[in-house]
Amino acid sequence: MERFYITTPIYYVNAKPHLGHAYTTIIADTMKRFQQMMGKETFFLTGTDEHGDKIVQAAEKNKCTPQEYVDQISQLFKDLWPELGICNDHFIRTTDSAHKKVVQDVLQKVYDSGDIYFGEYGGHYCYGCERFYTEKELEDGLCPQHQTKPEYIAEKNYFFKMSKYQEWLKQHILDNPEFIRPERYRKEVLSLLDSGELEDLCISRPKSRLEWGVELPFDNNFVTYVWFDALLNYVSALDYPEGENFKKFWPGVQHIVAKDILKPHAIFWPTMLKAAGFEPYNNLNVHGYWLVNDTKMSKSLGNVVAPLDMAKKYGNDTFRFFLLRDMHFGNDASFSEEALAMRQNAELANDLGNLFSRVLSMVKKYFGGVVPQPAEYTEADMELRELASNSCKNFQQLFDNVRFSYGIESLWELVRALNKYVDSSQPWTLAKEGDTARLGTVMYTMLECMRKVAIHLWPVMPKSAEKLVAQLGVEFDPVKANLPAEVEAWGTLPVGIEIAPGSNLFPRIDIDKLRKEIEEATKAAAAAAKKAAAPVQEAAAPIEFDDFTKVDLRVGKVLVVEDHPKADRLFRCEVDLGEEKPRQILAGLKEHFTAEDLLGRQVVVVANLKPRKIRGLESHGMMLALKTADGMEMLTASGEVPAGTKAS
Ligand code: ME8
Ligand code: MG
Repeated sequence: MERFYITTPIYYVNAKPHLGHAYTTIIADTMKRFQQMMGKETFFLTGTDEHGDKIVQAAEKNKCTPQEYVDQISQLFKDLWPELGICNDHFIRTTDSAHKKVVQDVLQKVYDSGDIYFGEYGGHYCYGCERFYTEKELEDGLCPQHQTKPEYIAEKNYFFKMSKYQEWLKQHILDNPEFIRPERYRKEVLSLLDSGELEDLCISRPKSRLEWGVELPFDNNFVTYVWFDALLNYVSALDYPEGENFKKFWPGVQHIVAKDILKPHAIFWPTMLKAAGFEPYNNLNVHGYWLVNDTKMSKSLGNVVAPLDMAKKYGNDTFRFFLLRDMHFGNDASFSEEALAMRQNAELANDLGNLFSRVLSMVKKYFGGVVPQPAEYTEADMELRELASNSCKNFQQLFDNVRFSYGIESLWELVRALNKYVDSSQPWTLAKEGDTARLGTVMYTMLECMRKVAIHLWPVMPKSAEKLVAQLGVEFDPVKANLPAEVEAWGTLPVGIEIAPGSNLFPRIDIDKLRKEIEEATKAAAAAAKKAAAPVQEAAAPIEFDDFTKVDLRVGKVLVVEDHPKADRLFRCEVDLGEEKPRQILAGLKEHFTAEDLLGRQVVVVANLKPRKIRGLESHGMMLALKTADGMEMLTASGEVPAGTKAS
């Protein structure tokens, strides 16, 4: 039996699950179900990534130990998946002791083979990315991801000889066009490999800087770099090296990730596999980013989509259908509740739901709810059968190639053709004329095609597909369903069985009402924010105008934001006040702002505040912020003004 092994990224536990995580995991679930129906034995893995600086920082912020913190957030992910109807076979955590053991075994193996060496390295380290950048990779001296200034760190570390495998990797990608797909990401990786020599990968962190990780088996002063640890989850979850699952499923492995983690999966991982003596994976499937109302999801914008809210409101199946249908795998897509409701109306309520209710009520009316015997097929019937066959074939090919939206579209060609066929074959006229033989053929043709549609939909909408098949009166065991055979099969629906019509599974949504609801909810949220934003504060005692003029308020632009090396709560900023060089200002804004939030902003600075030394660094001024009920905002100018403009 052919085998299929599908993985999602293991998600960082520094934030709660959101739409993006749900999408990748739903795709994986769909692929598993699809390949099951294609006759394969499947294994579906997801989990959480729990080591590294980011996690330690998040735990500190939440005032608990890293272990307490990761237990708590990992559980949120673990609990969410069944609620979204996702059936993973295993949930891995990088803090599992079995995983840690595998990481150490692989490290030892690669070390013994001579591909890990100890060396001195100086590099620009970005805490957000948890990685070193070379001069060349920085943009104007800033991290290209976070636009923050990385810290220069020189230290001794262990390195993996990644450069040794550069040529092999390039050749492997050239020889295997489906290794990284869609094509645009394959091209991106090839051009990266062509652009110069790969650097060796720093795979350790000294314990003096980070303790929360897997200790190196050959040097207990170091822990493993979080990516080297995390990627190995894909083999440790199969109980490498002795486990039966490893032997069974590794040869059928495919990964799914979004474009944000292309490089670790397309470059670090295959070279690691090569060095450790594993076969490379079969496919890396790379998708784009979900945007929300055309912008990036971010906590500070308040547009993070909680997947469970949407799924509860519209049902898991509509939610899944929308995600698979609206995003062309590989490209970015924009999420909006309105777009979801429109899909539900057009494609589910109108096209699909209507088809089932119309046809089933006719079978009830004309044949007492019993599947009729078909007589002779006409040319029009044969055309429809041909279309059904092609739709199924295309659907299967497209799903196999992770082109879900097109796959669904090809199934909908059949759904729409069936609706037209109802209109053109006019069953009501046949009934009036008493042409029962022809009427039976028309009804049977439709029912058999509807059965094909319903079972192909199972990977996308499991519960609804089961209900649709049940309405046709047949038993359905998805694992036994043989999708490839459905391309040619005809006559599987037994004649004489009783159908079980129900109401339209997909209710129409009143779009105008929804728009109003959304508008009102947005207004209410804004009003609540406004109300909450002005907490009553004691007025300060009156001062003379002269007192006020003593304060030199100026508008500046934030050029650099980084962590104060010794004070956890402070940022070290550099602010351009139009002076010879930017001012260093230390600011306690970390609780409410990320570095990205502040970077490039215009801020109002008390420019003549006496310099103050905090933990070894001097602060030359103060940025003004506004306390609101639920956070903080920065005080700023209403329009762009030259740096150093004085307030008066
Ligand atoms: O990178 N649209 O974890 P992570 C679509 N721990 N998908 C999105 C998304 C969006 N807006 N945002 C996130 C890590 N994702 C590492 C992985 S694997 C060995 C280690 C999804 O929590 C998408 O799958 O940052 C993306 O690749 C992943 O979440 C990143 O999750
Ligand atoms: Mg991320």
